Amino acid sequence: MITENAFAKLNISLDVSGARDDGYHDMVMIMQTVSLKDTLRITLNDTGRFRAKCGIAYLPSDGRNLAVKAAMLFLRSVGKCGTGAEIEIEKNIPVGAGMAGGSTDAAAVLRCLNREFGNPLGREQLLELAAEIGSDVPYCVIGGTALAEGRGEVLTTLKDIPDCRIVICKPEFSISTPEFFKALDRIRLRRHPDTQGIISAIDGNDLQGICHRMYNVFEDVEDRRLNAVRDIRRILLGAGAHGAVMTGTGSAVFGIFSPGASTSEVCCSLEKEYGFCRCVTPVGGLL
Ligand code: C5P
Repeated sequence: MITENAFAKLNISLDVSGARDDGYHDMVMIMQTVSLKDTLRITLNDTGRFRAKCGIAYLPSDGRNLAVKAAMLFLRSVGKCGTGAEIEIEKNIPVGAGMAGGSTDAAAVLRCLNREFGNPLGREQLLELAAEIGSDVPYCVIGGTALAEGRGEVLTTLKDIPDCRIVICKPEFSISTPEFFKALDRIRLRRHPDTQGIISAIDGNDLQGICHRMYNVFEDVEDRRLNAVRDIRRILLGAGAHGAVMTGTGSAVFGIFSPGASTSEVCCSLEKEYGFCRCVTPVGGLL
């Protein structure tokens, strides 16, 4: 059995620079891996059949599950056509949160199968395969702190962000990514994040400089569900976060605190009110 961690991602910033002809959008995002993780246990078989088990009834167990899709694609691309896989996913990353839960499971499958088979695919080939599965999957393969452009697959590794505590809270509703991209196309964006300013702050180990510039253009979408996002942000800032922002297309919100900050009280009260809250730390590059 092969075991692999699949870490959640957060968007320190998210900008959309335009809609593309292929139905996607051009993005400019600063991504960060954090210690909240799913755990995958993969057992290969010679029946050629694939199945995922994750204890969440509405998640698919067949090829529609991104982890299964990743295993199928990988094994086909390295010529192991008779090999199948059972993938058990211990799911801790909430679904529909903007934390790339499905994408990071797929990325973990690619990373560990490539390792298991003696690295038949080089980094670029592995990332190309990842991009066939989903826009966030290439980033999830490499992890750490990175600038993601294009559909999300054009990656530049950045320096690790300074040590900090990150409190993530997800309200009970989830947001559909395609729906929010469509909603974004209908509005005029009020502002854009200062991506270059954040990159300079990361370069200079300036946690406050990063936090003061965090911004996600999806927060401009007019949707009354985002009132909960604003409420959570206010609570996080009131508890001493240096900055707080929604991740991806939501619905999770996170606040960044100093490494020594006491966050247990705000975590408890957010969990009681919104159902999900965790205190995590940043994780460096994975590949
Ligand atoms: O690539 P992925 O399958 O994760 O994308 C899901 C949906 O999100 C796409 O079908 C598209 O509606 C939207 N999307 C987009 N532009 C991106 C990434 C995703 O419009 N760069």
